[in-house]
Amino acid sequence: MKKVLKWVLLAVLVVVVIAGGFAAYIAMSGMPTYDTQKINLKVEATPERVAHGRDLAMSLCAACHLNQNTGVLSGTQMLDMPEAFGTAYSKNITQHPTKGIGKWTDGDIAWLLRTGIHPHTGSYVPPWMIKLPRMSDEDLYSIIAWLRSDDPLLAPSAADNVPSEPTFLAKMLVHMVFKPYDYPSKPIPQPDTTNTTQYGKYLVTAVYDCYGCHLNDFADQDANDPEKSKGYCAGGNAMKDAAGNTVHSANITPDKATGIGSWSRDEFVQTMKSGITPKGHVMRFPMGRMTKLSDHALGSMYDYLHTIPAISHAVERAAPTGPWKSQGEKLFDKYACSTCHSKTGKGHANLLAANSKYPADSVLYDVIRNPLRYNPDSYMPHFGTTIPDADLAVLAQHVRTLCNK
Ligand code: HEC
Ligand code: HEC
Ligand code: HEC
Repeated sequence: MKKVLKWVLLAVLVVVVIAGGFAAYIAMSGMPTYDTQKINLKVEATPERVAHGRDLAMSLCAACHLNQNTGVLSGTQMLDMPEAFGTAYSKNITQHPTKGIGKWTDGDIAWLLRTGIHPHTGSYVPPWMIKLPRMSDEDLYSIIAWLRSDDPLLAPSAADNVPSEPTFLAKMLVHMVFKPYDYPSKPIPQPDTTNTTQYGKYLVTAVYDCYGCHLNDFADQDANDPEKSKGYCAGGNAMKDAAGNTVHSANITPDKATGIGSWSRDEFVQTMKSGITPKGHVMRFPMGRMTKLSDHALGSMYDYLHTIPAISHAVERAAPTGPWKSQGEKLFDKYACSTCHSKTGKGHANLLAANSKYPADSVLYDVIRNPLRYNPDSYMPHFGTTIPDADLAVLAQHVRTLCNK
């Protein structure tokens, strides 16, 4: 054998052994671990902070941590997790001293939310849990103040945490692509809320993580400088709704043809508040509407989004296809009810108590058209009269059928 070839073969062998060893290491290990640091922090829980923290948490934490059976933030399965990544469960973050986070210090919570490293085990908290490295100190303290409050959603629950089972692929990505953030070395001030483009940028990139979902792929994120992410805000990312269908994030750059360039400021604000776009489309899961934000905050996002580069990128919006067993089932898909409630009525949001809670049809009609009157924390769209009377009756009947199953 030629000497060169021998060396090449040897090199290949070494690479294979190292890669194989690395793969075995990843397969056997859990999440990577990092050093942790004790943060000395005591948040003063003023009523303003608790109220503001609740609004933030309702938009940022509740959808992932609310358990339909306990009615509190005791953790639940992440139904929208792609199969290739395995199964994942969020955790019990109620005030239970051992099952929840009742014994965590304010510093522990701040450390986890800032860095993505578990304060007690050092384990990296996977990419499907939010991280807030750029949020202002004041907003972060408000969330912490709320987590410590007597809100019924946080009442101690002894529900056990269910271990997640990430696949090899998920673990490999977490080992190789995703890294924790440094704990901020300087205070992060509140942005100037009178400068709407600056405030809007803060909301889009540092608080609500709009940009992370509105890329073509989560892996395109430039975690340290969001605006440098490939295809910034141009959408296309494929996600799963509660019915198991794929929903692609929309293009929210100011491109006139494929983005939101032709929307007026008021149309944008109304879309975010109602969950229905100017074209009459329901914003399906995981988007939902954002009722806890003020018109000023929403308008600021609009102002900011109109300063970023317009990118021409048409995102397909697939319409649901049958077969349907009944007209009710068909309308339940047409109005995107199934994207949140799943076809059974119990997906990310559970409507199976509707029969006992709303025995009168007239009330059930109103629940479907004006959900906020009945549950001020709901992200269900404000359908109003976008559902004609005839369809409303069929939908309500379908809801009753689901409840009776
Ligand atoms: C996209 C879904 C998602 C969102 C949004 C989310 N979480 Fe989580 N959270 C998770 C998952 C999943 C885990 C479990 C991660 C793991 O397996 O280690 C978790 C873990 C945690 C833990 C660790 C608890 C423990 O005992 O280890 C805390 C605390 C927490 N979340 C608080 C929050 C707060 C506060 C917010 C809002 C600012 C929030 N989460 C938003 C999904 C989410
Ligand atoms: C968890 C991922 C996720 C986050 C976070 C998110 N979005 Fe979305 N957004 C989506 C998806 C998916 C769609 C498409 C929904 C559909 O097609 O029904 C969407 C749709 C939209 C639309 C409708 C556009 C159109 O043309 O129909 C707007 C506007 C929008 N998002 C703005 C925002 C803003 C502003 C934020 C931050 C406050 C945000 N989104 C946060 C996933 C997300
Ligand atoms: C973007 C997500 C989303 C969409 C789309 C949606 N819902 Fe909902 N819905 C929710 C949430 C969240 C709740 C509150 C659940 C709770 O209280 O636990 C809710 C609550 C309800 C309730 C009341 C349940 C109760 O116990 O009070 C009914 C009835 C209902 N939805 C019917 C519908 C119908 C019919 C459609 C379609 C026309 C629809 N929903 C579309 C998210 C959605």
